[in-house]
Amino acid sequence: MALRQILHHPDPRLRVKAEPVTVFDADLGTLVDDMLETMYDAPGIGLAATQINVHQRVVVIDVSRDGSAPMHFINPRILTRDGEEEMEEGCLSVPGIFETVRRADRITLAYQDRDGNALEMAADGLLAVCIQHEIDHLDGKLFVDYLSQLKQSRIRKKLEKEQRLAG
Ligand code: NI
Repeated sequence: MALRQILHHPDPRLRVKAEPVTVFDADLGTLVDDMLETMYDAPGIGLAATQINVHQRVVVIDVSRDGSAPMHFINPRILTRDGEEEMEEGCLSVPGIFETVRRADRITLAYQDRDGNALEMAADGLLAVCIQHEIDHLDGKLFVDYLSQLKQSRIRKKLEKEQRLAG
């Protein structure tokens, strides 16, 4: 397993739309394992392949916060959305920024596992929010896109400045 480098907003590679996974082989398993390791190391509760510059529809999540519930979703697709929820979100690609976003509170989801098995599940609360956030990444979308233009512009300038200082 290996740690992968996480891209930071406003890197244009975060805007690339990911392609469906069609080959379920050892390389895919390695990608899932590397993504979990990278997410735990950060630390974070979710990571999309887009964030490590791999443009395939792969997401890992662990909302347990103690590393006890690793989940992975290949080609995830939301089937139904119900209710509304406002939650403060952050993102490993938008470091240091936390803002409230409104999303569906309950979802159902179709996806595949690393072996290619087709599965479905229901999720609510934090897990539902996290899945929606990560699927957005696969579509080249960030949580800051839901904020006002003024806030988006401030965040972009702040992160650009920090990246310049970091060299
Ligand atoms: Ni994110």
